[in-house]
Amino acid sequence: MYRCLASDLTALTTFGVPVKAREYCRVDAEAELEELFRTGCLDDPSLLVLGGGSNLLFVTDPPGMVLHPAMRGITFTEDRGTEVIVQCAAGEAWDDLVAETVAAGLSGLENLSLIPGSVGAAPVQNIGAYGVELKDVFHSLRAFDREDGRWLVLGPADCRFAYRRSVFKEELRERMIITSVSLKLSRGSAPDLGYGSIRTELDALGINNPGPAEVRAAVISIRQSKLPDPQVLGNAGSFFKNPEVDASTASPLMEAWPGLPSWNMPDGRVKLAAGWLIEKAGLKGFRLGNAGVHDRQALVLVNHGGASGAEILRLATIVKQTVKERFGILLEPEVNIIGGALQA
Ligand code: EPU
Repeated sequence: MYRCLASDLTALTTFGVPVKAREYCRVDAEAELEELFRTGCLDDPSLLVLGGGSNLLFVTDPPGMVLHPAMRGITFTEDRGTEVIVQCAAGEAWDDLVAETVAAGLSGLENLSLIPGSVGAAPVQNIGAYGVELKDVFHSLRAFDREDGRWLVLGPADCRFAYRRSVFKEELRERMIITSVSLKLSRGSAPDLGYGSIRTELDALGINNPGPAEVRAAVISIRQSKLPDPQVLGNAGSFFKNPEVDASTASPLMEAWPGLPSWNMPDGRVKLAAGWLIEKAGLKGFRLGNAGVHDRQALVLVNHGGASGAEILRLATIVKQTVKERFGILLEPEVNIIGGALQA
């Protein structure tokens, strides 16, 4: 365990905006959480659990303790031939887990390659990319309940996964400290190539019969061509969610704008591409001081260097208001905003 007062968190988040914690506590082993619980350190109502810091925007400094689960370890816990259960500690980098399972010849995570962030944060927003979401491969997770000091194992139904949502963003927000995640992977199953750009990329590489390693390479290549590397240009991936609207809202828009990318949802609603709406609202590449809309993927807001969290929030508000005026669609943030909120 490592604890420190007045700690600079800037390098622990991918937006790279200046931020300080009143108290920072890195936890390296599960037993340390029990010790923190016994000594009352987990009672702080404004405690914030920090994962890889890749889905966070700090507009102000967090008022309470920042707890950083940093346990390490990847274990192949069960091998049933075609199905393998892998347990991974919360502090591992998500993409290291993907790389290790793909190298072991397992499929399930390859479409989720190169997503920044930690393993413990992955279930919180049910990370997803290229047609796959965490929920599709989720087995269970282990978490410490900081209200009563109990250890819990939660299954898929307990987590209530939905598009970029889970129970950890709602009732159990900041209550459960996730310490490890178990995933159900497979050996020898066909890869998921449903997301058109993966197939196009594989065709361009001349690969006909891809395994998980080839799909991972294709996904990495697509991501690197569109999404900014947080080490180079601060960002938190997609800033907004793709809006899900009623068919009665979507139909007139799709008639007026035949190019608008859309996906029919099982519940009859329609998901619209927020990046397209932002681009067509004229904001791709737009800059407000040191904050900007990325010039290759308009759903991503970037820190061109020296931006404050408040500046990025002002830009996000302009984006939201412009898309609302142009298309009548309300964008909601995907990023967790600390110390501020988007204006309607
Ligand atoms: N589009 C534009 N202009 C843009 C951006 C997108 O016209 O500036 C269009 C694209 O041409 C495409 C459609 O919008 O027809 C969808 O774009 P893309 O495939 O890039 O995906 P996205 O919907 O913008 C989502 C996820 C990403 C994930 C990709 C690939 C959300 C909020 N974002 O983006 O996840 O990598 O799909 O699966 O669902 C993240 O969550 O941080 C993230 C990067």
